[in-house]
Amino acid sequence: MPGMSTRPVRLIALMNQKGGVGKTTTTVNLAAAFARAGRRTLVVDLDPQAHASLHLGVDSATLERSVYDLLLDPSLDAGGIIRRATENLDVLPSTTDLAAAEIDLAAEPDRLKRLEAIFAALGDRYDHILIDCPPSLGLLTLNGLAAAREVIIPMQAHFLALQGVGKLMETVRLASRSFNPRLRVLGVVLCMHDPTSTHAREVVADLEGFFEAGRDQDTPWRYARVLRPPVRRNIKLAECPSFGQTIFDYAPDAPGAQDYAAIAEGLTREWDALVAKLASAASPAPTHAQVSTPGRQAPVASPGAEASA
Ligand SMILES: Nc1ncnc2c1ncn2[C@@H]1O[C@H](COP(=O)(O)OP(=O)(O)OP(=O)(O)O)[C@@H](O)[C@H]1O
Ligand SMILES: [Mg+2]
Repeated sequence: MPGMSTRPVRLIALMNQKGGVGKTTTTVNLAAAFARAGRRTLVVDLDPQAHASLHLGVDSATLERSVYDLLLDPSLDAGGIIRRATENLDVLPSTTDLAAAEIDLAAEPDRLKRLEAIFAALGDRYDHILIDCPPSLGLLTLNGLAAAREVIIPMQAHFLALQGVGKLMETVRLASRSFNPRLRVLGVVLCMHDPTSTHAREVVADLEGFFEAGRDQDTPWRYARVLRPPVRRNIKLAECPSFGQTIFDYAPDAPGAQDYAAIAEGLTREWDALVAKLASAASPAPTHAQVSTPGRQAPVASPGAEASA
């Protein structure tokens, strides 16, 4: 058996430039679901609002150092800044001064690659790293897209959603063309979903049509889809951040816990199948397009070059 050290780290950025769509809720609770399944998981809070930190019980007002300091100097020891949230679940917290990073780093030639450098220094300490991006497409989100391999778009099934998704895909395409060719869009997580709404169903159908229409084109969203199940609107999900708890600690039987656990399970099944194939494949490692996953014609993403190391 190849050692655990050859296992690729799963790097997922959760992004949407629209505010309040469920990015942080999805990042924190998907990460918690992975952690509960035994994966060593890190949440990176890339938002100066520091909501993910708070959600995981870290009050950013009390922190001396945060992801901001690491972005300015990736040679700092991340271990001294990362906080433990629950078993298998850590957070690299944010503080409000992160808002200055854009200006502080403006003149640095490697300003897009700072988060990637932080991850490189972490080595194989984590199985999964989830990045909670801010609601903008600035330097912080671009650092997330440079450091990630996979992208998840949390969103609500509203009528302007499709237009927003088109713009997001163009941003991902730009990132993939200019600095991260391995970037792949996993898909959309529908947040605050109302399954009884006809309108929501129409928007979901439109989204699926958009993804289907791109299947034969070489884009980062070629294999993207609407991830199942949608996350139902559930007041417990809105309550748990103020207790500094994930949904699994706050209300483990709530619909929100069931939905995030089910999404995580599906993602993990595909990931494990993909990693197993990459590990058993002869050199050179199969490319993204050559590996297939159960129940699908194509993989969700290539775990990247680490798998062939
Ligand atoms: N499924 C859900 N049911 C009920 N409330 C939800 C659900 N998902 C998220 N919320 C609530 O909706 C609000 C916005 O969610 P969240 O903070 O996750 O969005 P965001 O995209 O991270 O926002 P921002 O753009 O400000 O970072 C929060 O108050 C959150 O608790
Ligand atoms: Mg947020």
